[in-house]
Amino acid sequence: MSMNAPRGTQDILPGTSEKWQYVEEQLADLCRRYHYKEIRTPIFEHTELFQRGVGDSTDIVQKEMYTFEDRGGRSITLRPEGTASVVRSYVQNKVYGLPNQPTKYFYMGPMFRYERPQQGRMRQFVQFGIEALGSDDPAIDAEVLSLALNSYRELGLQSLKLVVNSLGDQESREAHRAALVRHFDPHREELCADCQVRLDQNPLRVLDCKKDREHPAMETAPSILEYLNDYSKDYFEQVKQYLDVMDIDYVVDPNLVRGLDYYNHTAFEIMSEAEGFGAITTLSGGGRYTGLVQEVGGPETSGIGFAMSIERLLMALEAENVELPTDEGLDVFFVSLGDEANRTAVKLTDELRRAGIQVDKDYLGKKMKAQFKAADRLGSKFVLVLGDQELENGVINVKNMASGEQQEVALDSIIEHMKNELTGGK
Ligand code: HAM
Repeated sequence: MSMNAPRGTQDILPGTSEKWQYVEEQLADLCRRYHYKEIRTPIFEHTELFQRGVGDSTDIVQKEMYTFEDRGGRSITLRPEGTASVVRSYVQNKVYGLPNQPTKYFYMGPMFRYERPQQGRMRQFVQFGIEALGSDDPAIDAEVLSLALNSYRELGLQSLKLVVNSLGDQESREAHRAALVRHFDPHREELCADCQVRLDQNPLRVLDCKKDREHPAMETAPSILEYLNDYSKDYFEQVKQYLDVMDIDYVVDPNLVRGLDYYNHTAFEIMSEAEGFGAITTLSGGGRYTGLVQEVGGPETSGIGFAMSIERLLMALEAENVELPTDEGLDVFFVSLGDEANRTAVKLTDELRRAGIQVDKDYLGKKMKAQFKAADRLGSKFVLVLGDQELENGVINVKNMASGEQQEVALDSIIEHMKNELTGGK
């Protein structure tokens, strides 16, 4: 039995966890400005939710779910994505009946997919996503796209490409579906086994096949944009106009097909164009969905959202050499020697911390010199020194590590003194 973490998972250690915290805080702040509020749903759900929500014919449901029977004999699945759970919660809590609509949520948390791990593809990954439920206004589609793009831009990414498409409404999709079947049917035997099934279950997904990508019939496949009815065409036009008024650049790709079944109308992905980003260039994806709320037992309501993984975001930041302003230093290191001084150091360390100051001390019984070395290694701004001599004089030696300046401060005013030093008295 291996005692390493399972394939496709990772430990996030200090040094890196600060980057996660920074990014998570920035994303939460962005959501606050767009007025999206946080929702937290369970990490596991009834398997049926994803079968029906994400779609039975998708790769996620067919091949990638972590599904198990719990001790009560229920089929449970670790969530492979967030949208189905958010919609389930929206319906279960009858949020659609509340006065303030649309409902705008964001979420952040681990998702699980049994995929073949590679750079940017994990079996456990953290998604940040948003969902806006209860409005068919194309302006909210544009808002979601704007938030998605700004989540990268504000962190400093520049090499971004927004790709949009419309998958149309039910009527348009049916017309397109029939055209796809007519187009691919003569080539059925030449397509991979998965695509032969897709052709019957969800022919749109054939366009997204990695194995059949080079098949000549792919190039000539009918485009959804030719099959959009007037309502769908107009909807897409409006979304694009709103993007234009916000000066958001985009590319329309009629072959953009998302890997989940619930989409119609707007579908989009954001790619990284940074050199050295890796084989997988998609940073995030999303779109509008109409049937999902009804699928889980709610009223006819549509929503739009997107999700990204923090793992790919951090990869993109690295590829573009963006340094995150994470502070990894330490405010104060407490150096003490002697039993009495150690006891006083424990007391004062505790008081300083309660006063809001970041403090650490030695716990390895090190000599004075070694304690100083530790303070230096930790990048401490100040070192407080308390030995027998200082104790006797009722003072503490405060050393500013940047300037090298030292001063003696009375023991009973050290808290106030350090507060002033570190915050300028604020
Ligand atoms: P998705 O395209 O399956 O959509 O995933 C969205 C994002 O999650 C991807 O673009 C990628 O950043 C990240 N992601 C997916 N799988 C992995 C993986 N194995 N390893 C690392 N990152 C991964 C959805 O999940 C939809 N729920 C998005 C959405 C929200 N649509 C509407 N609302």
